[in-house]
Amino acid sequence: MRIGVLGVGSLAEYLIRGAQGAGYDFVLSPRSPDRAARLASAYGCAVAASNQPVVDACDLVLVCLPAAEGLAILRGLTFRPRQSVCSAMAGANIAALRAAVAPAEGYCSMMPGYANAFSAGPCLLYPGNPTWAAFLQTLGPLHEFDSAEAFETAAVFGAMSGASIFLMRHLARWYQAQGLPAETARRLVAETFRGNAEVLLQADAGLEQIAKGVTTPGGITEALVATLDARGALAAWDEAMDKVFKRMSPDRA
Ligand SMILES: NC(=O)c1ccc[n+]([C@@H]2O[C@H](COP(=O)([O-])OP(=O)(O)OC[C@H]3O[C@@H](n4cnc5c(N)ncnc54)[C@H](OP(=O)(O)O)[C@@H]3O)[C@@H](O)[C@H]2O)c1
Repeated sequence: MRIGVLGVGSLAEYLIRGAQGAGYDFVLSPRSPDRAARLASAYGCAVAASNQPVVDACDLVLVCLPAAEGLAILRGLTFRPRQSVCSAMAGANIAALRAAVAPAEGYCSMMPGYANAFSAGPCLLYPGNPTWAAFLQTLGPLHEFDSAEAFETAAVFGAMSGASIFLMRHLARWYQAQGLPAETARRLVAETFRGNAEVLLQADAGLEQIAKGVTTPGGITEALVATLDARGALAAWDEAMDKVFKRMSPDRA
């Protein structure tokens, strides 16, 4: 299966890495020539002379262009019937995407990025489509949506995912500042988040019950959460998520 990639930046590299061994060949747009050359040499990707030859050579086109200019770039290209285009651009609106790539079909996706290089990041797809679902499932668990509203809400997780890296880095830095070796601090934070993620994925208990179970009355978790709450640290996540939602889906939020 051949996939043309428009926009060969960080995200494109993660997705191409994650899909290795799954039977996909990639044809890349030539911008970011160093990265395109690296991907060509590491994974046998072909590099086209410009964007239009990528579109001409591939029935499937994955769009990893900058969100601000992506639609305008797509409008300047010529697509054909029975071609299928999947956008990974933050905030891409399905109607605007479809108008830009007509008469090709258009789909929207979202993913964390780096985690997909390890086939460990959830991907969203709207609307469902077996061809794109098969590709995205090589990159981690897949959530297909049949409502634009639900997809747009879920897609805010693209920012939540990136912010969770900042949170983990922040915590690792605290341990380092207290004298722990950097590697120990990094592993401790990562293993804690991974372990608790497993609790959410595997435990039968609801979230309220899980939170209660890990909080000894008068204990250290209660003390830490009380300080965070008093400083508005948890509520600040709501404000930040609302802001991103508004930016990604201005007509809805
Ligand atoms: N990074 C992530 O983990 C992540 C996760 C989910 C979604 N996304 C979405 O993925 C998209 C790309 O993000 P990114 O982080 O990969 O950004 P990035 O590293 O800046 O990559 C964007 C790439 O697009 C290229 N480009 C710009 N204009 C172009 C044009 N006219 N024709 C062809 N290529 C062009 C850039 O080339 P130059 O360097 O030459 O300008 C660059 O290689 C964004 O829409 C973002 O919302 C990213």
